[in-house]
Order: sequence, then C-alpha cells, then structure tokens
Amino acid sequence: MPRAVRFDQYGGLEVLKVVEVERPIPGPGKVLVRVKAAGINPGEASIRKGLFAERWPSTFPSGQGSDLAGVVEEVGPGVTNVAVGDEVIGFTNERSSQAELVVVEAGNLVPRPANVSWEQAGALFVAGTTAYAAVRSVALDAGDTVVVSGAAGGVGSLAVQLARNVDARVIGLAGSANHKWLTEHGVIPIAYGDGVEERIRAACGGKVDAFIDTFGSGYVELALKLGVAKSRIDTIIDFAAAAKFGVKTEGNHEAANAEILAQLAGLLSAGRLEIPIAKVYAMDDVREAYRELEQRHTRGKIVLEP
Ligand SMILES: NC(=O)c1ccc[n+]([C@@H]2O[C@H](COP(=O)([O-])OP(=O)(O)OC[C@H]3O[C@@H](n4cnc5c(N)ncnc54)[C@H](OP(=O)(O)O)[C@@H]3O)[C@@H](O)[C@H]2O)c1
Repeated sequence: MPRAVRFDQYGGLEVLKVVEVERPIPGPGKVLVRVKAAGINPGEASIRKGLFAERWPSTFPSGQGSDLAGVVEEVGPGVTNVAVGDEVIGFTNERSSQAELVVVEAGNLVPRPANVSWEQAGALFVAGTTAYAAVRSVALDAGDTVVVSGAAGGVGSLAVQLARNVDARVIGLAGSANHKWLTEHGVIPIAYGDGVEERIRAACGGKVDAFIDTFGSGYVELALKLGVAKSRIDTIIDFAAAAKFGVKTEGNHEAANAEILAQLAGLLSAGRLEIPIAKVYAMDDVREAYRELEQRHTRGKIVLEP
C-alpha cells in the first residue's frame, strides 16, 4: 500500500506520522502522480497547529502539502494534457502532496523541464507563485528600489530574483549567514534588527519605491516610515497591519494557477531563477523537516522525498 503523511488532531510535530493508505484512484479530469519531491511551507505548520482552525479547518485524518513534482502513474477519464510516464510539476488544494501517490487535477500540472531538478520542481508552487504575486503587486520598473524582508527565505529568495529580473535595485533583509548568497544574486544585503531603518536609508540612494514583507512583525510600519506608498507595499503575512494601514496582501491565492507555474518553471529552466534547496528529507523524517522549517531561518526551500 502507498504511504502518506497524516495527522489525526491539531498539535505539535508529534501529531505528524507517515502511514499506509488506500491507493488513490483518479476520477474524471484527474491524474495519479507518483511523487518524487514535495516542498514544505510554514502555512502547513500553522494549519497543523490549528492556528487557522476557524478560517481553514482541517478534517481528520488530514493529509498535508500542496507542492509536488513527480511522474504520471495513471490518468482518469477525459484527461488529455498529460500521459502515463510524463514528468510533471504541480499542486493540489486537497492537502495531500506529501505522499507516494497523489491525485491531482489535470489542470494543475505542467511539464517538468528536463534540466530542472526534482527538488526545485517539487518546491516551486507555493513559494514561486507567492513571490510572483508579491512582486507583481508592487509594480516594479527598472531602477525602482524595493526592500524585501525575509529575503533569503522560501518566498523571499524567489521574490528578490524576480525583482532583479526587471532590473529593480533590491535591498534584502536577512541574517548574516545569507548575505553572501544575496550578494551573489545581485541583492544588497542588510541585517535586520536594531538600526535597520537607518541601514536601509543609507543603502537606498534616497528613496524606497516598494516594500515586500514576507516576515511580518512591524515591516509594514517600517515601509510606511520609509515613505513607501501604500499601493506599493505588499505583506504576505501581516494581515492585521494590512487591514489597519490599507496595504496589499497579494500572495499565493492571486497566482495559484498552472499558467504562472509554467512561467516560473520556464525561468528555472532558463537559469533566470534558482531555488536554493536548504535540505532534502526522506518523507519518514517529516517531523524533522518541519522542526527545521519552524525555526524560521531556512534559506530557500526544504523538500520531502517519499
Ligand atoms: N499569503 C500567502 O500567500 C503566503 C504564501 C506563502 C507563505 N506565506 C507566509 O509567509 C511567511 C514566509 O514564508 P517562507 O516560506 O518564505 O518562510 P521561510 O522559508 O521560513 O523564511 C523565513 C525567513 O525569515 C527570515 N527572518 C527570520 N527572522 C527575521 C526577522 N526578524 N526579520 C526579517 N526576516 C527574518 C529568515 O531569514 P534569515 O535566515 O536570514 O534570518 C528566513 O529566510 C510565512 O509566515 C508563511 O506562512 C504566506
């Protein structure tokens, strides 16, 4: 029997387990994918802890995960865009990608370019589409200066590259261990913490045009202090500050489709985007994978391999 990540109640890492499940059957318009890699995301930890129980409740037993890359194992009736054996990148909205076999809507799959590693392919969806939406929302032009908080995290590491691709000047807030990576990717690294406002003012050449916040805890207020227009501030995490100050909250929801996923896969294939892979864990070590992620110091993405 195939194996999958499950949890039966809200809780800490200890509720996560890997169990044998019935082999899923792809219905009309659906595809069974044998998963090679599945990225993990902080939002999944919040769901598992019950922090979103009001807004997005879990039903138990719950699976976990949206991101995936793998090989088509079986297609359901009416599927024409993929065939058995195709290598694909995709996503599911059913919280089920962390599994050996997963059923996915055919329309949520795009081809995996041969030169994109399984790990990068499997980590692309949530972070990639979120970074895409965030960068699009602040409407960058060549020469604009944009600050990104959490600049080397899963979303931030992609957002800074997408911003550089339109020739924006990018200031990335990150811990010192990530400054070299940021510099190598054309980003001006700045340490967060006391004095960050002065450091940004010193580095920005007179003005900050846009701000992308992927960390929360006061960065929306900092962006306003720096004089950034509300229409050019996007936070993917601080919804209370967004409601209070009227800034944007565009993220995964605004770009979660196959067309944008294919565009991002194309950028990876062309070498215009790179997903740093912090670590690859066997699916059996799912607790350890989330333990690391929940420290909130990942560079790029952590990936599970079934
Ligand atoms: N709204 C949406 O659609 C959406 C989608 C995806 C994610 N999210 C949310 O967005 C957040 C980021 O996701 P992610 O996947 O990028 O997380 P992640 O990979 O865990 O990245 C966390 C980053 O935060 C940085 N960081 C830690 N302390 C910081 C501080 N005081 N100031 C600035 N940065 C700090 C870390 O940088 P250093 O290692 O350099 O310290 C790390 O790179 C999560 O809360 C997630 O739930 C929202």
